[in-house]
Amino acid sequence: MAKLQALLGWVDARFPLTQMWKEHLSEYYAPKNFNFWYYFGSLALLVLVLQIVTGIFLTMNYKPDAAVAFASVEGIMRDVNWGYLIRYMHSTGASAFFIVVYLHMYRGVMYGSFKKPRELIWILGVFIYVALMAEAFMGYLLPWGQMSYWGAQVIVNLFGAIPYIGNDLAVWIRGDFVVDDATLNRFFAFHVIAVPLVLLVLVVMHILALHEVGSNNPDGVEIKKHKDANGKPLDGIAFHPYYTVKDIVGVVAFLIIFSVIMFFMPEGGGLFLEPDNFVPANPLSTPEHIKPLWYFTPFYAILRAIPPMFESQFPGVIAMGVSIVVLFFLPWIDRHPVKSIRYREPIYTLALMIFIVTFVALAWLGMQPALPYLSELAFRCSELYFSFFIVLAIYSQARSKNYYITWLVALAAAVILMDLPRYIGASGDKQILIRYSIFIPLIYFVITLWLPTTAAKWTTSKTVPDRVTQ
Ligand code: HEM
Repeated sequence: MAKLQALLGWVDARFPLTQMWKEHLSEYYAPKNFNFWYYFGSLALLVLVLQIVTGIFLTMNYKPDAAVAFASVEGIMRDVNWGYLIRYMHSTGASAFFIVVYLHMYRGVMYGSFKKPRELIWILGVFIYVALMAEAFMGYLLPWGQMSYWGAQVIVNLFGAIPYIGNDLAVWIRGDFVVDDATLNRFFAFHVIAVPLVLLVLVVMHILALHEVGSNNPDGVEIKKHKDANGKPLDGIAFHPYYTVKDIVGVVAFLIIFSVIMFFMPEGGGLFLEPDNFVPANPLSTPEHIKPLWYFTPFYAILRAIPPMFESQFPGVIAMGVSIVVLFFLPWIDRHPVKSIRYREPIYTLALMIFIVTFVALAWLGMQPALPYLSELAFRCSELYFSFFIVLAIYSQARSKNYYITWLVALAAAVILMDLPRYIGASGDKQILIRYSIFIPLIYFVITLWLPTTAAKWTTSKTVPDRVTQ
């Protein structure tokens, strides 16, 4: 023991090990009222490690060459010792990553964790999310199956929709006129080293930013406001051992659920690995329905729902881009001083619930074939997706009745105007669909902008306690 102490002293004289342990664990004070929703940050860390470790072992046997990539993955599944397990852990792990990260983001929105002083934690989080999307997209090309190939073809072609530079940009990304060996090689380089490095740096910054300002909590109370004589927050407890123990409970529960999925349904019925991807890539045969995996489908649905203009998909590409970029601005879109949903005005809770339903509906629609009525529904859900943010900017500040009604009329007019070019020249059936479905955004605006004018309770928040409640 004494020798260990001496060793620690030796290290501490050269590297701030004990200081870091104290700062980030044993003397990092976190609010004592963390709940279920606070498991997902540490779980995201766990899945990140899981992906990196399984990825390293996959790389030992995978070959980034269009001629043998598919066979090398099949070789991993059949011939490499425990290869099937490592491959499934990685492919199912990707879906687990997105499930955990979506729940983690939802927690942030629910408890207002993106608000002052945590804007940077949120922004770094959105960068992580974008990097994660790039990582998953490029990883999906590597098995060189039908969906890998055609998915990449469709998504890279989207860049071609950008005016003037689009085609050159798409060729530059692919390294060829179609997705080919050069594309596979560069996606491999990005997936295996470049993006993971960026992700790791971003995650370290994310946690450093969090430890700078301290964690939010389900009450949205700043625990640093009330400290004892020693300067310790009265409502805080040391992260270690209290939350390390709590997080281990989350890790065990996660691993049990993950193992059940891994061993009994590793492909998730086509949700985590599509059946089409067990067919080698064939540039001469397009699969009937090209669609991305579930975690991209909300954005894919938005892309498909926005009608082309002058035969260009550019408006859809812009809408899809904006649907992600808007997340960066959430701290300034939502201007309400109250953080947690526990105390916020009821209209926010209602709008957030509608947003979640819309997001799940978009995810489902993005997996379906583009039948006319489903495309129309996807268009309306896209309108609701963007409306959540527009309307939030309006009702999250105290406003006069006239202000609400003016916006209600303006937004309703905008929706009708946007429908005109779609309506004129559409088939009779399509016109009926447009006429009926326009009530979806109109009712949404009535609920979120007219309801608040009927009774003050809709926009009145509850009193936030001074100290945490549990
Ligand atoms: C690899 C992905 C990610 C990892 C490893 C990660 C890790 C963490 C950890 C360990 C925490 C502290 C524990 C907790 O509050 O649950 C945290 C907090 C937070 N994260 Fe992430 N995160 C990731 C992605 C994201 C994303 C995509 C967003 C949002 C776009 C985000 C937003 C936040 C916010 C706002 C907090 C502060 C929460 C609070 O104090 O209430 N994170 N993150």
